[in-house]
Amino acid sequence: MPMKFAQVFFQGNNMFISHIKDDLRSVIRDRGRIAFVPTMGALHDGHLSLVRLAKQNADKVIVSIFVNPAQFAPHEDFDSYPRHVEADLALLKAEGVDAVYLPSVAEIYPNEDVSSNPVKTGPAAQGLESDFRPHFFGGVVNVVYRLFEHTQPDLAIFGEKDFQQLQVIREMVADYALPITILGAPIARDEYGLALSSRNAYLSADEIAIARKLNVIMRESNCESAATDLLAAGFDKVDYVAHHWGRVLAAVWIGKTRLIDNMAI
Ligand code: PAF
Repeated sequence: MPMKFAQVFFQGNNMFISHIKDDLRSVIRDRGRIAFVPTMGALHDGHLSLVRLAKQNADKVIVSIFVNPAQFAPHEDFDSYPRHVEADLALLKAEGVDAVYLPSVAEIYPNEDVSSNPVKTGPAAQGLESDFRPHFFGGVVNVVYRLFEHTQPDLAIFGEKDFQQLQVIREMVADYALPITILGAPIARDEYGLALSSRNAYLSADEIAIARKLNVIMRESNCESAATDLLAAGFDKVDYVAHHWGRVLAAVWIGKTRLIDNMAI
């Protein structure tokens, strides 16, 4: 029988890879409690910590890899966003993930209109990231809602690094009464406290040295002086340093790379 999904990377073992939602659904029915980890790929230890949290809390784990065009503005890094699907699949296989969902753009946006946003954001999406990336949370909730439809999870894991995104997703789940538990996973950091991010791959060695000062300055400066301290430390631009949800949250630029971080106050 011909396989319905386009590509199988690990034939002959039990990590199922699907590009088609109906195929995915056929394997996820009657499989116990399902945890879902949505990603845009370029996986690092931060993503793998989400996968491990998923495994601790469910019988089966599904990970999606989809670089969602709807959450990038035309001037942003959609085209250059790092993509290493084969390396990602090897990492997920080593973690014992049960299924990986790699949808095409048409599988997620059948009418080809990636900017039609029927799913609406609530108040959590206002301010902070939205002041600088107004399209972002609309794109996120619209892809995550569809991914939830396709994967039918009992729970889903999101990293606390995108802390506002986590609040926006929790709000969407509550507003749309989705029967899905949302778990936030602590931020994974390198030995200097730099929050792991796929976008760290854009940074040169000198820029990494600057990036590693972000968490230190956020911890040691008060909100008023933090922006000045960040600029003095070599960051090129500070979008915001703000207090919200009992945390200090920041978005900064080094050259063309935008980094975000947050921590409990
Ligand atoms: O956090 C991300 O990587 C993305 O925003 C997500 C949740 C996978 C939606 O595209």
